[in-house]
Amino acid sequence: MSPLTSVAVTAPAKLNLQLSVGAAGDDGYHDVVSVYQTVSLVDEITASPGQGVSLTVDGAETGDVPVDESNLAVRAAVALAEATGRAADVHLHIDKGIPVAGGMAGGSADAAAALVACDALWSTGLGRHDMQAIAAHVGSDVPFALVGGVAVGTGRGDRLSPALVRGDLHWVLAFDDDGLSTPVVYEEVDRLREGTAVPEPRLSEKLMTALRAGEAESVGPALVNDMQSAALSLRPRLARTLAAGEESGALTGIVSGSGPTCAFLARSAEHALDVAVQLSAAGVCRSVARVHGPVAGARLVDDAARPRYVR
Ligand code: C5P
Repeated sequence: MSPLTSVAVTAPAKLNLQLSVGAAGDDGYHDVVSVYQTVSLVDEITASPGQGVSLTVDGAETGDVPVDESNLAVRAAVALAEATGRAADVHLHIDKGIPVAGGMAGGSADAAAALVACDALWSTGLGRHDMQAIAAHVGSDVPFALVGGVAVGTGRGDRLSPALVRGDLHWVLAFDDDGLSTPVVYEEVDRLREGTAVPEPRLSEKLMTALRAGEAESVGPALVNDMQSAALSLRPRLARTLAAGEESGALTGIVSGSGPTCAFLARSAEHALDVAVQLSAAGVCRSVARVHGPVAGARLVDDAARPRYVR
C-alpha cells in the first residue's frame, strides 16, 4: 500500500441546546451541563506530509485565525504526536466555514479534524477512547466535535454521554461582525452573578423530553443558555438580532454558546428559508446561514455524504 499523500476531514460546528453554567472551580473552569448538537456548517482540514507542524487557512470565515502553536489544530497535532511517539511532521490546511470566535466551537472542530486527519496520515492506530482523552486535553469542546450528533456534556463539558433524540432540527444562524472570547464571556458570567448563590447545573428534563419527541415546537421554549446575558452585556446589539429573528417568525432565538452567533429555531427546512430571507432583509447581522442538525462528528471526507448548508 502506498503512503497517503493527503487526508481531508470535515468537522462540524455545534450549538448548545442547553448550556447551564455552575460555579468556577479552583482551576478556573466552570462546572457545566451542556446539551450539544452538531450542525451542518463545517470546516474542512487537509493534512499532508510536512516538516514540523505548519498551518495555512482560507475559506469563507478566515477572521483572525492564528497560524502558530496557539491554534487548537496545531496543538492537537502536537498532542497526538506526543501521545503516539510519532514525529510531529504535518502540513495542515483549514478551509473555514465556521465563524471564528463565534460561539460555535470552530477552533475545537479544527482540533478534532486535525486529530482524525493526522491519525490517518500517520497510521497511529489509536483507539477512539485514547483519542477522546487527547481531545479533552486540547479543549473542553473538542471531545464532542469528534463524536458529533447530540450529547450531554458534564464537568468542563468534556465528559460526554450520547442523547437519544428523534428527527432533525432546522436553524437559521445570524453571524456578527466581530467575535467574542470565550474566557471573557465566562468572566462576565461571574461578574454578573457576583454576590448571588450559583445553583449546581442540572440537565433539563423538559429539553430532553422535547428532543426525544422530535418536536421543534417543544424544543424551542426548552432551550437554555446561561451565557446569553453575559454575551448580551458585552455585545448589546445582539438584543436587536434576537428580536429581529423572532419578528422573522422563528420559534425561538438564542445566543449560541458564548456568542456572538445567534441561532433561530424553525419548524422545517421551508420555514427556515422564510426566516432566513426575512432576517437577512432586517440588516441586523453580517450574514445568515441555514443549517440542520444533528450531523456526524469529525470524519474523513466522503463527497456523497458531505453535509450541506446554504448561506
Ligand atoms: O477548554 P477550553 O480551552 O476550550 O476553555 C477555554 C476557556 O474557557 C478556559 O480557559 C476557561 O476560561 C473557560 N472555560 C470555563 N469553563 C468551562 C470551559 C471553558 O471557564 N467549562
